Amino acid sequence: MGEKIFVGADHVGFNLKNRLVDELKKLGYEPIDVGPKKLDPADDYPDYAKPVAKAVSSGEVQRGVLTCGTGLGMSYAANRFPKVRAALAWNEQIAELSREHGDSNLLILPAQFVSEEQGINILHKWLETGFEGGRHQRRVEKIDK
Ligand code: RB5
Repeated sequence: MGEKIFVGADHVGFNLKNRLVDELKKLGYEPIDVGPKKLDPADDYPDYAKPVAKAVSSGEVQRGVLTCGTGLGMSYAANRFPKVRAALAWNEQIAELSREHGDSNLLILPAQFVSEEQGINILHKWLETGFEGGRHQRRVEKIDK
């Protein structure tokens, strides 16, 4: 089995989340979809941010992916969890830098501002980019000190 990656969304990110789950499967990962399983315009992003961020924070998995309309609500909620470095990325370059410099372990996509195609491309860039370490290692370590 491939690497497990927790994935979640709210209603605005619902369609993009389903595309991301399919793409992760195609790439050989094992996405754990925390939902929503059906579109509910009344759902709330913290209910999906928390299980994904918790799994990353506890070390149960190495990485997670979240999406909502702006990505901001998911970001507020996910980054409260120790050791979570959730990066809101609306293009491939930000996703790349979030990995190279910040060792981001949770990708957040703003579904209202990226197409599904762009979202998939951003996901690819984020998955394939490594952490540079060095001076960035020191900075990342200081976050939790
Ligand atoms: C939901 O209406 C919306 O607030 C949410 O998707 C997100 O944009 C919050 O940050």
